[in-house]
Amino acid sequence: MAKNSTKSSKSPVFACKECGDTFGKWAGKCGSCGAWDSLVEFKEPPPQASASARGLSGVGIQGQSNAGLNGVIALKDIPEQTENRIPTGIAEFNRVLGGGIVPGSLVLIGGDPGIGKSTLLLQAATLLAAGGIKTLYISGEESLAQLKLRAARLETPGSDLLAAAETDLQEIFKLTESARPGVLIIDSIQTVYKPDVAASPGSVTQLREATLALMVHAKSTGCAIFLVGHVTKEGQLAGPRILEHMVDTVIYFEGERHHSYRILRAVKNRFGATHEIGVFEMGSTGLRQVHNPSEAFLQTRDDRAPGSMVTCCLEGSRPLLLEVQALVGRTNYSMPQRVSMGFDQKRLTLLLAILEKFAGLDIGPQDVFLNLAGGFRVDEPAIDLAVAAAVAGNHLGKTSRHATLALGEIGLNGELRPVPQMEARLREAARLGFKAAVIPETQKAPPHIPGLELLLAKRLRDALDHLFE
Ligand code: TYD
Ligand code: MG
Repeated sequence: MAKNSTKSSKSPVFACKECGDTFGKWAGKCGSCGAWDSLVEFKEPPPQASASARGLSGVGIQGQSNAGLNGVIALKDIPEQTENRIPTGIAEFNRVLGGGIVPGSLVLIGGDPGIGKSTLLLQAATLLAAGGIKTLYISGEESLAQLKLRAARLETPGSDLLAAAETDLQEIFKLTESARPGVLIIDSIQTVYKPDVAASPGSVTQLREATLALMVHAKSTGCAIFLVGHVTKEGQLAGPRILEHMVDTVIYFEGERHHSYRILRAVKNRFGATHEIGVFEMGSTGLRQVHNPSEAFLQTRDDRAPGSMVTCCLEGSRPLLLEVQALVGRTNYSMPQRVSMGFDQKRLTLLLAILEKFAGLDIGPQDVFLNLAGGFRVDEPAIDLAVAAAVAGNHLGKTSRHATLALGEIGLNGELRPVPQMEARLREAARLGFKAAVIPETQKAPPHIPGLELLLAKRLRDALDHLFE
């Protein structure tokens, strides 16, 4: 969902006042929402150097007088920072944050409306408060009565959590001055405004100014701040990318609305690894952690169904078993349909061409539908082989080999290519009872895992022979 643009920091950026999308050049009409005369230029955030000079550089070496000449210091002389993280009480959330909340950090949590951002933060906030961390929840979107209702539904001990319904940032700072919270939650950044800035809440200017003020507040007081941010239908944070540049950590909350699984994913983290994920399930009493996602994702699988193939993707440091499902049938259209859910459509088209050419499958005139079960989304080429095998299996009407998973990237010549961290993936498969894995022959030093037979394949064809022998 989250795409990271690599826009040059030098070029001017124009943002639409209406929808918040950003563009590299000015135009009279917004290319996204079609609003006229809505693009305004905004400046890039201050570069790191000047930010650190003003004490905004994150908790890293804040407060250290720069011993040495002219404010510079040898790296070896910088005292090591002792990590002082606050655990949220939700292990899956801690994992994504890099081990817990860093005091003085500014964290942005983005996601579609209704995905569960407020629910997650309210659950975390009540647990923090119950654990003795003074936590203040600022609700700009819902009344306190609504917040109370939600808390009651969550059945979490929330009595110590401080809350206020406020959108004026000056008033919010007054509240923090008297309450002095260790953790502050702003739900959402689009609703708060600085009264001394002449722009409406949610506008680019307000977002930038409010976020900057909150950043200064976090760094100067050591209070960790969470900002909730909405995303547009294109999957970008409503409001310009500038928000992502300014904050320390950007986390997206993703999932299909009609599936219960929710994935929390760090796309930027100054205090930890990115691409770590946390898995949750939305239930009637809020979000439940899914500690064993592979098992959860495979629960409903019918391994006798032709067109079902299991593979293992890697999310951060975490291997996840997934079911790829394919449905292939004669088309009723002049242009056969290629529909892919959770996997890149262009890559599917490419794999179909490879199947046609190197496995001799007559797929051209067929409709092909592909789905990653559970509403999951993966863009790793390591699952290529499973995608191709699911399509081939359904097309041929053949069930794949029992308790076997498929792993491998497929090259344009139909050759199988090694995938990173094979061992971690295979261990996860063995842990869940898989008996064999088809993997690329080119995989260097294939790991030996007790109980898991390795079937090496050089080319796509060999892999399909192993799977459908
Ligand atoms: P919410 O946290 O309000 O989403 P966001 O802040 O991202 O807009 O989530 C609201 C959705 O979650 C809503 O559709 C109702 C559902 N929900 C549950 O299914 N169970 C619950 O216990 C709660 C609190 C919400
Ligand atoms: Mg909300």
